[in-house]
Amino acid sequence: MKNVKIENLSFAYPDEPEKLVLDHIDLNVEPGDFVCLLGQSGCGKSTFLRLIAGLERPTAGTIKIAGEEITGAGLDRSVVFQDYGLFPWMTAGDNIMLALKQKFPKEDKRKLKETALKMLTEVGLKEEVFQKLPKELSGGMKQRCAIARSFSIDPPYLLMDEPFGALDAVTRAKLQDMILELWAKREPKKTVFFVTHDVDEALLLASRICVFGQSPSKIIYECTIPEEMKPNRETLYEDAEIMKLRTQLIRYINQDVTEHIEP
Ligand SMILES: Nc1ncnc2c1ncn2[C@@H]1O[C@H](COP(=O)(O)OP(=O)(O)O)[C@@H](O)[C@H]1O
Ligand SMILES: [Mg+2]
Repeated sequence: MKNVKIENLSFAYPDEPEKLVLDHIDLNVEPGDFVCLLGQSGCGKSTFLRLIAGLERPTAGTIKIAGEEITGAGLDRSVVFQDYGLFPWMTAGDNIMLALKQKFPKEDKRKLKETALKMLTEVGLKEEVFQKLPKELSGGMKQRCAIARSFSIDPPYLLMDEPFGALDAVTRAKLQDMILELWAKREPKKTVFFVTHDVDEALLLASRICVFGQSPSKIIYECTIPEEMKPNRETLYEDAEIMKLRTQLIRYINQDVTEHIEP
């Protein structure tokens, strides 16, 4: 069982030990789940993702993957950040190659380049993008590269932190469709943790949605969206059940907002 089991997880940043960011979180995620983590800005979604990535250590509680407690970052978990996380001094291709070399240190370089080029095509980019520096690419293209890098090493767990948050609406829609397609066509399916504050994005992508409350954060609401109920871009605003769920999610996200209005 390659499930991700989070038990009794609490977290405070070491420089502010008295301020609990996450408070007793329990979550068991099955392999192949597409989990959207929804919540207001500042509620601790990125912190939660960083803990699963192994970039922070729990203050209390455990995170186990396939029964093993995680002790740090690993090539089984790839992270896609909102700001793309590409090294600006390297070409798009070299950014992907770097990840590939880490994962397959003994593999022939030409073979790795083939994989990188194939991956670029799969995310809808031309092969010539391989030679371009990130600054020569649009935001959408940079994020496609970052996604190509993540998928190229084929990690069973994919962690995405508001990856489309900085993109315009049309580009965002295209990338949402792309990520769903990439996820759906690979077997076994990757387990995805996808952070967003956009309810419609969560409804379009998720097989499961967890809503985080305000600080200290807990999971205050959870639902699963079975395959047969999953909306597409057209039915998102037509299906009565989805409309009801959207209202419910917005209500949960906003329920304690008045108590936490930022100055
Ligand atoms: N490196 C850090 N050191 C101290 N506090 C932090 C750090 N990063 C985030 N925080 C605090 O932790 C809380 C949760 O932040 P974050 O996880 O970024 O929320 P979200 O991703 O939901 O917007 C916020 O109050 C934020 O100010
Ligand atoms: Mg965040």
